[in-house]
Amino acid sequence: MERLDQSERSVLDDLYPNAHASTAPGSLHAYFGSPTALLAIGLILLLLVTRAASSRNAVASKTSEDAKSPPAVPYWLPLIGHMPNMAYDADGFVKNLRSRFPSGVFSLNFFGGRHNILYGPGLATALLNQKQHIANSEEVSRRLLNVIFGFPKSELHKYDEGLPDMMACYKHLLSEPSLSDLVKQTARRIQGTIVDLVTGNESLVDQTPWEKTSNTYLATDERSGEPVVEASLLPLIRDYAAQTANPSLIGSDFFANYPNFLDDLWVFDRAFLLLATGLPRWIPIPALTKAHLARRRMLAKLEIFHEAMEKHYENGEDAGTNWGSLDDVGSLVKARMAVYRKHNWSIRGRAATELSLLWAANANSDTLIFWMINRIYADKTLLEKIRKEIAPYVVFVEMPSDLPIAEPPRLERFDVDGLSNNCPLLKSSYIESLRLDAAPWSFRVIKEDFVLQGRGEGAEGWRLRKGDCAHIAHDLHSTDPKYFDDPMVWRADRHVKYENDDKHGAADMGSIRPYGGGASMCKGRAFAFKQSMMYTAAIVAMWDIEPAGGGPWKMPRHKKSTGVYNTSDDTRVWVKARLLSE
Ligand code: HEM
Ligand SMILES: *[C@@H]1O[C@H](CO)[C@@H](O)[C@H](O)[C@H]1NC(C)=O
Ligand SMILES: *[C@@H]1O[C@H](CO)[C@@H](O)[C@H](O)[C@H]1NC(C)=O
Ligand SMILES: *[C@@H]1O[C@H](CO)[C@@H](O)[C@H](O)[C@H]1NC(C)=O
Repeated sequence: MERLDQSERSVLDDLYPNAHASTAPGSLHAYFGSPTALLAIGLILLLLVTRAASSRNAVASKTSEDAKSPPAVPYWLPLIGHMPNMAYDADGFVKNLRSRFPSGVFSLNFFGGRHNILYGPGLATALLNQKQHIANSEEVSRRLLNVIFGFPKSELHKYDEGLPDMMACYKHLLSEPSLSDLVKQTARRIQGTIVDLVTGNESLVDQTPWEKTSNTYLATDERSGEPVVEASLLPLIRDYAAQTANPSLIGSDFFANYPNFLDDLWVFDRAFLLLATGLPRWIPIPALTKAHLARRRMLAKLEIFHEAMEKHYENGEDAGTNWGSLDDVGSLVKARMAVYRKHNWSIRGRAATELSLLWAANANSDTLIFWMINRIYADKTLLEKIRKEIAPYVVFVEMPSDLPIAEPPRLERFDVDGLSNNCPLLKSSYIESLRLDAAPWSFRVIKEDFVLQGRGEGAEGWRLRKGDCAHIAHDLHSTDPKYFDDPMVWRADRHVKYENDDKHGAADMGSIRPYGGGASMCKGRAFAFKQSMMYTAAIVAMWDIEPAGGGPWKMPRHKKSTGVYNTSDDTRVWVKARLLSE
């Protein structure tokens, strides 16, 4: 950033050698007469000079050692640089730059700081694999834990001391036997609840937590005269997944005691980037104020949870009537108890850490399942293909009944390994939604000058400098027409590959990196994959979903979020049990 400022100054000096002499306000004012005119002329001069100075870099500049700096995109406004472009239409702006800078990297200016935007997959991998002392992600995580999740600033030294132990705990999300445990518990909850995705119960008290947030009521399909349940699809799918998966992480007591916890989590998530700016809570931005209040309520609940955990696990005391099932808390959170104790973290510090886990576990995966459901139900042929593919692994049985009203069917066989390993079309749909319905960026701070060496894509090195920021814009690669034909079209079987005479095919991620990479790579990726397969398969097998009132599917529009896209469109749907009618 220093360098750019200097070059601006030197260009200014070249063009207007006497500029410094004439800055006395009186003399200039006298010369131009009106202060408004002065301001306007001053602004125009500044824009021209800034543009001239910044476009000198538009062609990648050679430095003393051979490697070039990433080409800098010219800008009009000093200081704020490209912020207006990003605020106005970030998506269109960076996609346009992708075609102007085909070498896979360009650099933008935000508030004087140089931000290198990388999208070439070789360069992205090279950056993700750098060591922390060169391209650092830990300092950002640490700062976010404090400003977003409310970890006490005065305790950050304890965080630093405990970090290696905390990282080691993630084996409970990533590897066996804990991962299977987590998946099995979740599968069991799906088996117990999938018939209640909608109950059609009129009274709010009889509705499930996910129906309550989805404006659910009983309607009649005029074409057939049959009853259907009308609901809003986003909260229905998102909250069903969250309410039934989270107890596997934090135990069943927590969500039984605080069924409204998620409402606060969504309010908090909406203001995530605002919170990240570190703006104080008294700034009158409604979304920010609401997020601060939601965070306070969530932390208070998590503190009560941790006080109960401390009693139960460390002191062997009775934790009280609301906390009788703490034994079913997931193994990651249990393992963290030892770390919290060892490094003497306060209850508040523990609560903030668990808030960050619950946010990470829900911000992307629940909405991803929502998009998969949209994509699959939008195409009736695909829906039938997937139903056929998953049929051996998701088996419902009708319950015999003497009562006049039929018992609901039961999800008898739910083979998650079969779904994960033998259903390439469903898996490819999952990858296709990660490709098109998610747009995460990975962030690194450059701590030392170094040359980033990609493979493929020209293989030239790019010099990144100490103090720069580097972002990997995963969406620029995953929608790049050079790698994906008709990139904006969602195509279920796009990632299925047939090797040798394998007629069955297999799907893999290929070159997309929706979970980031390197040391900070998503710790929940293995679980997120199984969740996506389990929830989508169970819903698709049991339920018919169509737009309320019938007709073709209306695909909701993407709304930018931190990773997986959100939407503001309210998709009202009719939901009807599929097996009951057959
Ligand atoms: C579709 C679902 C998901 C997506 C797309 C996703 C994506 C990501 C991304 C992009 C990162 C940052 C990586 C980086 O900095 O390079 C991340 C971090 C993380 N994710 Fe996920 N995630 C998903 C689901 C989950 C789930 C279900 C969990 C937990 C059960 C989880 C736990 C975490 C954690 C703990 C981190 C922080 C890692 C660290 O800073 O060391 N994620 N995730
Ligand atoms: C919905 O109502 C039925 C009775 O009509 C009841 O048996 C069932 O438990 C209710 N569902 C929920 C989730 O409360
Ligand atoms: C642990 O931290 C608390 C403050 O949060 C402090 O009062 C206490 O002395 C510390 N205990 C140890 C053993 O360091
Ligand atoms: C997504 O958008 C909806 C509608 O604007 C909002 O209510 C919700 O909080 C947002 N976030 C998530 C994760 O659903």
